[in-house]
Amino acid sequence: MSITICPVTPHFVAEVGDVDLSRLSEADLAAIKDAFWKYAVLIFPDQHLTPQQHLDFAAAFGPIETERVLDHERVSPRLANSFADISNLDAKGQIWAGDSRQRMYKAGNKLWHTDSSFRFRPGLCSLLYATTIAPLGGHTEFADQRAAYDTLPAEMKQKLEGLAAEHCIATSRQRSGFTEFSENEAQRLPPVPQAVVRTIPQNGRRSLYLASHAGRILGMPEAEGRALIDRLIAHVTQRQFVYTHRWRVRDLVMWDNRCTMHRGTDYDDLRSVRDMRRATVSDVANTCEQEGIVVPA
Ligand code: OGA
Ligand code: MN
Repeated sequence: MSITICPVTPHFVAEVGDVDLSRLSEADLAAIKDAFWKYAVLIFPDQHLTPQQHLDFAAAFGPIETERVLDHERVSPRLANSFADISNLDAKGQIWAGDSRQRMYKAGNKLWHTDSSFRFRPGLCSLLYATTIAPLGGHTEFADQRAAYDTLPAEMKQKLEGLAAEHCIATSRQRSGFTEFSENEAQRLPPVPQAVVRTIPQNGRRSLYLASHAGRILGMPEAEGRALIDRLIAHVTQRQFVYTHRWRVRDLVMWDNRCTMHRGTDYDDLRSVRDMRRATVSDVANTCEQEGIVVPA
């Protein structure tokens, strides 16, 4: 039996059924890729995946990121480096402490962002798998940056053409109140340029490429650039471009970081366990390189 695709809206988000991601045929994988480029967010309910099977599926889309943001000397990891730990658990599997470094750092996931835009070679897609969900809240919201781009006035599209923004993990963390990067962490992750508008090669669609990681626009006065980024993020995250995912246990949700933003919603993280792991696939190159943008010095 071939897979079943059930779109949530005509061009954004689809559920995929009649598929076991741990044993995919070539034809099913090709159908999933086609659907992914079209819908940008795919939901696979009721998957039973070992960590290795999760990584194997992710690897079908490209190389998996293994560099984590926080130094392990300061925060001992619960998961292998191939995963981002999207839980509220410490290395011993207990609910984290209210003042723990992980908790302060991960609060940044509640700001609109796209994964790893703060890396020179950013994230192409992310695959998040839920093993324990919060009884209340803890949803994940996704915004369609392609549809948002399409509705911009022509003058704004023209103004954004060829622009690059500076993305840095410290920028989004400053916004969410985490300022304690070690020197080593800060050095490993300096600001990087990313295109403000990009083209998705698989279908030619144009998309905004924004995130809370973006600080200033290169070649523009800092305040003006920041104001423009804030205005554009407000535009992209209007209700008509947003889908809210309410998790079920064993959902695997994958999203295209090139043309969506996402954020986590609140839950009682000092009381309820929420356990998810994320594999992140790297893009093929820096976005300015992909768009042919020469970064101003
Ligand atoms: C992520 C992320 C938000 C959430 O996994 O990349 O930002 O809902 N998650 O936890
Ligand atoms: Mn994220």
